[in-house]
Amino acid sequence: MSNGPHGEPKILVVGATGKQGQAFIRALTRGPEEPPLFPVRILALTRNPSSQKALALQKDRPWLDLVKGNLDSRESMRHVFTQAGGKGAIWGVFMVLQYAGLGESTEGEAVQGITLADLALHYGVSIFVYSSVHRGETDDDSEILAEHTGKIKIERHIQSLGEQGLQWTIVRPVLFMENFEGTMGKMTTTIFRAGLKKDVKCRMVALDDVGHVVAAMFHRPVNIAYKTMVITADDLTMSEQDVAWLSATGKHMPTYPHFLGTLILAINTAAKDIVYFIDYLYRHRSDNSEAFQEHIANTHALVPADQMMTFEEWIKQYERDRRKRRRDTGGWNKVSLGKLLTGSL
Ligand SMILES: NC(=O)c1ccc[n+]([C@@H]2O[C@H](COP(=O)([O-])OP(=O)(O)OC[C@H]3O[C@@H](n4cnc5c(N)ncnc54)[C@H](OP(=O)(O)O)[C@@H]3O)[C@@H](O)[C@H]2O)c1
Repeated sequence: MSNGPHGEPKILVVGATGKQGQAFIRALTRGPEEPPLFPVRILALTRNPSSQKALALQKDRPWLDLVKGNLDSRESMRHVFTQAGGKGAIWGVFMVLQYAGLGESTEGEAVQGITLADLALHYGVSIFVYSSVHRGETDDDSEILAEHTGKIKIERHIQSLGEQGLQWTIVRPVLFMENFEGTMGKMTTTIFRAGLKKDVKCRMVALDDVGHVVAAMFHRPVNIAYKTMVITADDLTMSEQDVAWLSATGKHMPTYPHFLGTLILAINTAAKDIVYFIDYLYRHRSDNSEAFQEHIANTHALVPADQMMTFEEWIKQYERDRRKRRRDTGGWNKVSLGKLLTGSL
């Protein structure tokens, strides 16, 4: 059977339980038990269909199937395509690959991406969307960071498969606003403040907007083939970020003491690399901005700039969600789950 039970086209989401995969699936979701934004059957890839994340994804979405597979095994991924119905059965692929980690080799990431793209070509996928990363306004990759080599290899391979018939689209999201969430966000702010010069602006996008752009691609797949799209929504210095936070919440951005940021940057190469990368992106802005304008225009043809969240709007949404989560899980008559479990009433 090629399509879903009612003839819906199938989209394989690689990285479905991850942040971008979830954002894409959220963007397709209209409400519990309701049909999706457009007729589609989602095949949500995961190594563990019984994990909490996988089960949460499937809950209230009868149009989504969890599909077990491991990108590190070509056979396992071939099985995913044959199980779906073989050649022509999977209409679209949205591929997000896990971050290898700062300082880690990206060879495994490259092999995963290349394997999947080859299989997509072989099994006649019509739309192949790869989520890479923004690495400056230029298409000149001569001055790249080591952590991007895997993604560049994948991009080039996918582009070469275009000549054999693979209709590819590459999205390059900038830094996720979600990096400023919770304790890790507090640490990010502390390190950025300690390491970035005052004039350095940082491009950011909310995961929801990454999801909207990719959903729009599959919803109305016109003029998306062989295009690269940079997904960005706001562009702020650290002090401008603080102004946004203050305006949204009445409080300054949460941070740890400044010396801690300085200390971490002195001893942690990974943290130093992140700060170097943000600075690098800013310093290289004027280079060949024609390519950047084109990549941005491609994105805004799908989702106009004024429909994407500013950092301030994202903070307001984040705070609303955080309060709701606290209400939902935080307790009843001041009795919290934690207190119940520890018997400390
Ligand atoms: N953080 C940023 O600001 C930022 C900005 C731009 C781009 N990026 C890029 O975004 C990417 C990460 O995206 P994300 O944050 O959405 O991912 P994520 O939340 O880390 O999720 C990783 C996903 O990969 C799946 N996965 C991992 N290994 C697998 C394997 N061997 N076989 C099958 N599935 C596997 C996991 O599924 P299961 O565990 O369910 O199997 C999970 O769904 C990275 O490449 C990063 O460079 C990040």
